[in-house]
Amino acid sequence: MAGSGTQEPLKSQQKCVAVFALVCCCAVLVALTFSTLNLWGDEEDSITEDNCSTDCRITLVENLPEDLPLPPGSESQSLPLSLGFHALLDQAQHSVEVVSPVWNLHPRDLTAGRDAAAATQYLFQRLLGLKARGVKLKIASSLTNSTELKTLADHGAEVHFVNMSAITRGELKSSFWIVDRKHVYVGSGDMDWRSLSKRKELGVMLFNCSCLALDLHHVFSFYWQLQHRDYIPSIWSRKVIALYGKDEPLELQLNATWADAYLSASPDSFCPRGRTRDVEAVQHVIQSAQTFVYLSVTDYLPLVYRTYRGASILRYWSPIDEIIREAWLVRRVRVLLLISYWKKTHPLTLNFANSLKALCIQLHNCSLEVKFFEQKEVRDDIQHGLNHNKYIVTDNTVYIGNHDWVGSEFAINAGVGLMIHMKHSLEDRGVTIVEQIRKAFERDWGSRYAKNLKDEDGKYKQQQQLSELKRRERRKRMEKA
Ligand SMILES: *[C@@H]1O[C@H](CO)[C@@H](O)[C@H](O)[C@H]1NC(C)=O
Ligand SMILES: *[C@@H]1O[C@H](CO)[C@@H](O)[C@H](O)[C@H]1NC(C)=O
Ligand SMILES: *[C@@H]1O[C@H](CO)[C@@H](O)[C@H](O)[C@H]1NC(C)=O
Ligand SMILES: *[C@@H]1O[C@H](CO)[C@@H](O)[C@H](O)[C@H]1NC(C)=O
Ligand SMILES: *[C@@H]1O[C@H](CO)[C@@H](O)[C@H](O)[C@H]1NC(C)=O
Ligand SMILES: *[C@@H]1O[C@H](CO)[C@@H](O)[C@H](O)[C@H]1NC(C)=O
Repeated sequence: MAGSGTQEPLKSQQKCVAVFALVCCCAVLVALTFSTLNLWGDEEDSITEDNCSTDCRITLVENLPEDLPLPPGSESQSLPLSLGFHALLDQAQHSVEVVSPVWNLHPRDLTAGRDAAAATQYLFQRLLGLKARGVKLKIASSLTNSTELKTLADHGAEVHFVNMSAITRGELKSSFWIVDRKHVYVGSGDMDWRSLSKRKELGVMLFNCSCLALDLHHVFSFYWQLQHRDYIPSIWSRKVIALYGKDEPLELQLNATWADAYLSASPDSFCPRGRTRDVEAVQHVIQSAQTFVYLSVTDYLPLVYRTYRGASILRYWSPIDEIIREAWLVRRVRVLLLISYWKKTHPLTLNFANSLKALCIQLHNCSLEVKFFEQKEVRDDIQHGLNHNKYIVTDNTVYIGNHDWVGSEFAINAGVGLMIHMKHSLEDRGVTIVEQIRKAFERDWGSRYAKNLKDEDGKYKQQQQLSELKRRERRKRMEKA
């Protein structure tokens, strides 16, 4: 019959479709299984959260510019940042994973000095030479046009571009290294020649610390998977979820002293299951301080301001500001806030600093203070003597982050933070990392670059910043036109 004649091919077509769908399903399943079992993995993938190491060494690294002499008798116990990077490269056998907001290891400024120029170029040469040593170099970046990244890629580095402007309209501001999934660096210094010469930087390196390295690698994998995407997938692989967090920190030993640690991240959309948000970590650290909180950041501005589709958005962003006030007001914790004063200091920063200081009006012995770290010569883009540090240190905890405390940064830029909490009270131990960082803070706070802005001086500075801001906006408008 004519009817069955047309039905037969229709049925076999349906069968075909069904079989095809089944085959597809199987393929997807097999692929999924393989990707979770990680059969095509790297050498380092054999370290899992069950057999990773928690017996770590920690070293404080700083860049202290030569022409920013610090008070005598306060010699730092830290390792110079560039030596720290070389120590990490010395250890590398399989892989080096780097995230940096800037890639610029070739000083354009001749005043940088020959030594600084030679030092940064040597670091770059060593990165280029990794491939020849059989070490993989992997870089995640949101930079679109970096000659340095192009050169590294030509020499065998794998570079994944993360289109942050499509995902959050922000940038990848994270700054960390992972070596052999064992050793890590987290800090304010990045792959910018100024970080190794002109700017003041602070960070930590952890050696033989594969549990923490594994978790940081999960953050790295998150960025890695965003290549060729302009959205954040809603389903995540096991390889990017957080292993530790605020509620379940990692227990580890740092130079044989017991501590808790975890990593935090921002923005919110970059925090898959279990990952503590940067803002939460900052709040948690300040809230758990018992006697003092010392804060060092380049910019402090509790505002979210940005332009979106031509309209500018401005709103008050309270999470950190209010926790600082509360620490002092409710818990009577001593609060010292050190902010940098430089070319890009937003004029409202002075208002917010004054508003914090106003809490002390009519109080004797007020334990809340704000100072501005300022080098006499605040020259344009060289960032000469800029205090680029971003950390909090309290009686038993230190938090080192990648962001300045500006609302917009946490909202759209990617960054990480490392929280370390020492388990015992200060008395029973020798020098710990927390104590070292506290000393570094006290050194800076007591130096002649840390200034109380008196009213007249403050007013003058504010005028200066306002006119600078206007100049910049005018220039931006002219560039657009
Ligand atoms: C860690 O455990 C995994 C399986 O759980 C194993 O394959 C691997 O060899 C172990 N690695 C080390 C260094 O012991
Ligand atoms: C990219 O960089 C090159 C060389 O530094 C420059 O000539 C070019 O104009 C840049 N392109 C864009 C789109 O910025
Ligand atoms: C990033 O994404 C935006 C929007 O999807 C697109 O216009 C832009 O070309 C992308 N940038 C690069 C370098 O791929
Ligand atoms: C890390 O561990 C290895 C082997 O246990 C050891 O040889 C090395 O010195 C350690 N590195 C540091 C910086 O402690
Ligand atoms: C000021 O505060 C410090 C510690 O916060 C305390 O040791 C000192 O006695 C106080 N001085 C006065 C005059 O209250
Ligand atoms: C931990 O040990 C390493 C290597 O022995 C040393 O360089 C570092 O300064 C120590 N860190 C602290 C905080 O004592």
